[in-house]
Amino acid sequence: MTHPKYEKTLVVLKPDAVQRSLIGEIIKRFERVGLKLVGIKMFVPDSVFIEKHYTFDPEWKRKAGEKRIKDFLEKGKELSSNDPIEVGDQILTSLKGYLASGPVVAMIWQGAHAVEVVRKLVGSTEPRSSDVGTIRGDYVIDSYVMSADDNRAIRNLVHASGNLEEAIQEIPHWFSKEEIIDYRLAQEAIIYE
Ligand code: CDP
Ligand code: MG
Repeated sequence: MTHPKYEKTLVVLKPDAVQRSLIGEIIKRFERVGLKLVGIKMFVPDSVFIEKHYTFDPEWKRKAGEKRIKDFLEKGKELSSNDPIEVGDQILTSLKGYLASGPVVAMIWQGAHAVEVVRKLVGSTEPRSSDVGTIRGDYVIDSYVMSADDNRAIRNLVHASGNLEEAIQEIPHWFSKEEIIDYRLAQEAIIYE
C-alpha cells in the first residue's frame, strides 16, 4: 500500500472566493495544517468543463436535489418541484453559470488523509450551517433557502473532492501530469518521519 502522505485532493477556489480577495486566506488554511501544494493554476472554465466535473458521479444530480428538497421540507418551504433529478438539473444549470462566471484557482493538495482533512477544513456545503472555524463557516453566509429563492447555486467559496474516488476522477480533469509537481518539503521530515 502507498503511504497515506501521497494522497492528493482537488480544491477549486470558486469565482466568489477570487472576487472577495480570499485566495491567500484560504490557501493559508491548507498550508498551516501541513498539506503540500503540488499543483496550482488560474483560469476561466467554460460550462462544458464544469458540467463534466459535476457529472463523474451519475448519482450526483439526484443527491444534490435530495439535499435541497430535504432542507426545504425541514424549513416548511415549497420548491417548484419535488423530483430530485429535476431539482438536481436546476442546481447543475445554476452551478455552470456560477463557476464559469469568472476566474477560478484550481489546486492539488497532497498529504496524509488529504481528502478528509481538506473536507474538514472546508466545512459542509451550506455556509449557513457549516461549523465555525471552517472556510465555509467563517467567510460566507449563504443558505439553501436564499440561493433557491434567487434561482442560483449556493455560494460557498470552494470546491473540494468529496472522497478519494472523486479526487481520482477530478484531478486528471483539471490537471495534466506535467502540471503536478513532485518535490519534497523540508517539513515532511518533522511531520512524517
Ligand atoms: O461542494 P460539496 O461537495 O460540499 O456539495 P455537493 O453536494 O457536491 O454540491 C456541489 C455544489 O453545488 C455545492 O458546493 C453548491 O455550490 C451547489 N449546490 C447548491 O447550490 N445547492 C444544493 N442544494 C446542492 C449543491
Ligand atoms: Mg461534492
